[in-house]
Order: sequence, then structure tokens, then C-alpha cells
Amino acid sequence: MTNSKTILVTGSTGQLGQSLKAIARDYPNCEVVFADRQQLDLSETHSIKDFFQQNSFDIIINCAAHTAVDKAETEVELANKINHLAVQQLANIAKQYDSKLIHISTDYVFNGKQCRPYIEADDVEPQGVYGRTKLSGEQAIQNGLKTNAIIIRTSWVYSEYGNNFVKTMLKLGKARDEINVIFDQVGTPTYAKDLAQAIMSIVQSDHFNQVSFKTDIVHFSNEGVCSWYDFSKAIFELNGIHCDVFPIETKDYPTPAKRPYYSVLNKAKIKQTYNLNIPYWKDSLRQCLIGLQDLEK
Ligand SMILES: NC(=O)c1ccc[n+]([C@@H]2O[C@H](COP(=O)([O-])OP(=O)(O)OC[C@H]3O[C@@H](n4cnc5c(N)ncnc54)[C@H](OP(=O)(O)O)[C@@H]3O)[C@@H](O)[C@H]2O)c1
Repeated sequence: MTNSKTILVTGSTGQLGQSLKAIARDYPNCEVVFADRQQLDLSETHSIKDFFQQNSFDIIINCAAHTAVDKAETEVELANKINHLAVQQLANIAKQYDSKLIHISTDYVFNGKQCRPYIEADDVEPQGVYGRTKLSGEQAIQNGLKTNAIIIRTSWVYSEYGNNFVKTMLKLGKARDEINVIFDQVGTPTYAKDLAQAIMSIVQSDHFNQVSFKTDIVHFSNEGVCSWYDFSKAIFELNGIHCDVFPIETKDYPTPAKRPYYSVLNKAKIKQTYNLNIPYWKDSLRQCLIGLQDLEK
């Protein structure tokens, strides 16, 4: 058991923020403070400064982000403020107050043209504003905080909370007899609760609790690989929904933001460094569907 720590979680109303809230009580040696947008608005430099003048933490877990990938194409300045400039400010604050920083980034930093799972050292080439601003956030941490920060890139996050692909499919599957889903974008879903648990394991790990460690990037998603088409088929099968799913190509479902065709993340580094066991995506999907049913009771 490590010493007691104070932890700040930003973006407490989001999928990951709420998933961390759901498991925080399992870690009695951590005093976790959850901040929503009203308490800490990451688009306002002054809000960030004021917040940290009044509060200090051993660890900052930054779950807040401008995550609306298509909207970001037109909300460029706002996305840059939240995903880049605020992250730069958080890195400076972590340095100033000697806090450790865990920041969440995305598979969308890659161009998706590769055909083997991406490792952390692979070349980045984001395809849209969201990916570009998230990459700038990563670089701000790497340049401004050379030690005591971890950047976790993740992909296709879903949960019991907020809006996500699983909840959209459940709604559509119940309302329609058939549905078209993209089959030529391939990745791995991430159950936010698994990511939350991985983050708390990192916080408890010997590596993280060294006086100082080199700032690094790691990848996390569930195990396995699927397309959005396979993902929707599994959601319907596991939930007993009778809805025909037809595979379509990305070009038949145009969106403002370009998305990577292939964004499977290689998780060898995070597993080895933090001794993690990561569940297979379909097993975690089953857990989330049970969680959703429990919430409906
Ligand atoms: N969702 C995915 O598929 C996905 C994939 C790869 C990586 N990621 C990354 O994973 C992390 C967690 O994602 P998520 O799925 O939990 O996101 P989410 O559900 O969209 O939540 C985003 C959170 O950020 C908050 N936020 C937005 N603007 C803010 C601002 N100006 N000030 C303070 N808070 C603000 C939101 O608050 P409100 O509720 O008030 O809007 C919300 O709490 C993010 O860094 C994201 O980039 C997500």
C-alpha cells in the first residue's frame, strides 16, 4: 500500500471522469477530487490559474477534452484552447506545484495508413483538427514537463455514461429493422471502466511512485481488433436485439472530419511497465451492457 495521495480528476462529467468516480471508493488511500467544467473551465486561462491557486494535488488526471471530432473542424480555436493550451498550462502547473500528471490522448494522432498495431514511437500525422489539437497537447507536455507525466493514448471509448457508439447502436437497434455501419475503419474499443482501472493501477504502481520518472507515452485500449460493423453486430448479439446490420464503406458515410482507417494500438509497453492484464473487447462490452441494464432498473 502506497502513502495517501490527493488526486484531481478534470472532466468529471465525461465518460472517463464518471468511470473513475464509480471506482474511486475502491482506493481508500486516494482522496479524489472531481472537477466539472463549472469548477474548472479549461477554455479559460484565468479559471485554471485561480483553481490551482486555491487547491493543490499530488496527481492531476486530465480527462477533460473537446471530444466532438466533427464539431472541432469548425470550432478550431476552442478545440485548441482545451486540447492544447489548457494542457500546456496544466503541465506548467504540475511543474510549479510538483504534481504528477496523467493525461489522456487519442489514436487520432495517427494517419491510420499502417497495417500493424501502432506503437508509441510510430510517426504521427493527425487527419483533423481534433487529432491535431490533441497532438499539440501531447507535445506541450513533452516539452514542458520532462519528468513525472504519463500520456495515455486510447481509442473508441464507450461506457454506461454520456453519448457513445454502444448507446447509439442500442437506441437505433431497438427503433429500426436494419442499419448500415462502416466496416472499413478498424480499431479496438475501450471500455472506460477498464481504462479507469488501468489509471488507478498506474497510480498505485512502483514505477509511478518513484520520486522522478521520465515523461512517457503509453497506449491503452481493450484487447483484440474489430471494425465498427463487427462492434455493432456484437452489441446486438449480446443484447438480443434483432436488427440487420449492413456493412458500408467510409465514403458512403461522409463526415466533416477524416478518421483513420486503421488505429489499432499496441499495448505491450503499458502492460509490461505497469504489469496490467487487459480484458478482451467483447468481454468488456458484455460488462458494460450489464452495467447499462443495472442503471435502467
Ligand atoms: N471518446 C472517445 O472515443 C475517445 C477516443 C480516444 C481518446 N479519447 C480521449 O479520452 C479522454 C476522455 O474522453 P471521454 O470519452 O471521457 O470524453 P467525454 O465523455 O466527451 O468527456 C469530456 C469531458 O471534458 C469536459 N470538458 C469539455 N470542455 C471543457 C472545458 N472547457 N472545461 C472543462 N471541461 C471540459 C466535458 O464537460 P461537459 O460535460 O461539461 O461537456 C466532459 O466532462 C479525452 O482526453 C479524449 O480526448 C476519447
